[in-house]
Amino acid sequence: MYRNFAIVPRIIFGRGSFNQLDEILAARRTSDGGMVFILDDVFQDRELRGRVPLHEGDRLLLVNVDDEPKTSYIDALVAEIKAGDSRVPAGIIGIGGGATLDIAKAVALLLTNPGSAADYQGWDLIKRPAVYKVGIPTLSGTGAEISRTTVLTGPEKKLGINSDYTLYDQIVLDPELLAGVPTDQWFYTGMDCYIHDVESLQGTYLNEFSKAYGEKSLELCRQVFLEEHPDRDDKLMMASYFGGMSIAYSQVGACHALSYGLSFVLGIHHGIGCCIAFNQLDEFYAEGVAEFRQMMAKHDIRLPQQVTAGLSDDQMEQMVTVALGLAPLWENCLGKNWRELMPRERARRLLSRM
Ligand SMILES: NC(=O)c1ccc[n+]([C@@H]2O[C@H](COP(=O)([O-])OP(=O)(O)OC[C@H]3O[C@@H](n4cnc5c(N)ncnc54)[C@H](O)[C@@H]3O)[C@@H](O)[C@H]2O)c1
Ligand SMILES: [Fe+2]
Repeated sequence: MYRNFAIVPRIIFGRGSFNQLDEILAARRTSDGGMVFILDDVFQDRELRGRVPLHEGDRLLLVNVDDEPKTSYIDALVAEIKAGDSRVPAGIIGIGGGATLDIAKAVALLLTNPGSAADYQGWDLIKRPAVYKVGIPTLSGTGAEISRTTVLTGPEKKLGINSDYTLYDQIVLDPELLAGVPTDQWFYTGMDCYIHDVESLQGTYLNEFSKAYGEKSLELCRQVFLEEHPDRDDKLMMASYFGGMSIAYSQVGACHALSYGLSFVLGIHHGIGCCIAFNQLDEFYAEGVAEFRQMMAKHDIRLPQQVTAGLSDDQMEQMVTVALGLAPLWENCLGKNWRELMPRERARRLLSRM
């Protein structure tokens, strides 16, 4: 069976395209509720905040992403929006990195679907279309702008709300918005994309569709992280989009699976967690890891060392359980007999090196 997958129907790309946001939204200002802009609070005192095209009745919510998004945070934001105005908003516009893009997706879904965000963690549990939603990345690499998931940490699990309704209706890709990202964050999020490409291209699920997008994305990542180009932000923005398209029709692999373990037990954020894990995975992705180290050296990135060193036996076992729970990722990496190739002891040995 082949997956008949939906993608984001409308995309605007280019430097300064953010200036067209007001015009894009105008066509959607039909219902009587206003627009709700969800902006990463890193922009609280920056120029971008003043450029948000607010009309009367619209709202601007500043969100904090020091922790990766939790289902309880989504529930609180939805309650705040409903308390402020009983009408359903005309649209939700998320502006920020992967975490903010995920928050905005989840809020748009929960405004039309009853209950808690935690009720929908899984696959195709959402029953009703979301409020119209627009995603505007200010950090590139996760592919959250084009994915059909919003990754959330709930009371019991870290799992996405995966559904066709999760996809944005519109994305605005303006490379100018990447200016001002600190180098280490730019690198970690960019490496998320590089690792998507390597894991997709070396996976057993690979097909020409994923390969076409993955190869182009990898080429762009090399230009961004190993060469000098004045338009590197434009390149990284497209690399992120193409990397996301590549994994949409294949899968990620060992690095993502192990990084979920790190993230669940230690609260390590996605981009940096992927880098810590990837740096120990020569036995799976020798060439990719060697090139990744060249990229680290070029940008003078120093990864945290021995993050799992002080963990208890129970914590290590929990990490192994989380990592090995991601069966499709291991199957993509190692094939159908992955369970024989990746016994618990091997996964634990890999994690203990990180
Ligand atoms: N939905 C998906 O398909 C998907 C895929 C991968 C990762 N994710 C999620 O994405 C999140 C990671 O996203 P991320 O790596 O983009 O980082 P992020 O959104 O967590 O942001 C990282 C930091 O960068 C700051 N920041 C963002 N834009 C900035 C800018 N222009 N200038 C200065 N600072 C800026 C943020 O305030 C934050 O402090 C995780 O929560 C992860 O679970 C989602
Ligand atoms: Fe990722």
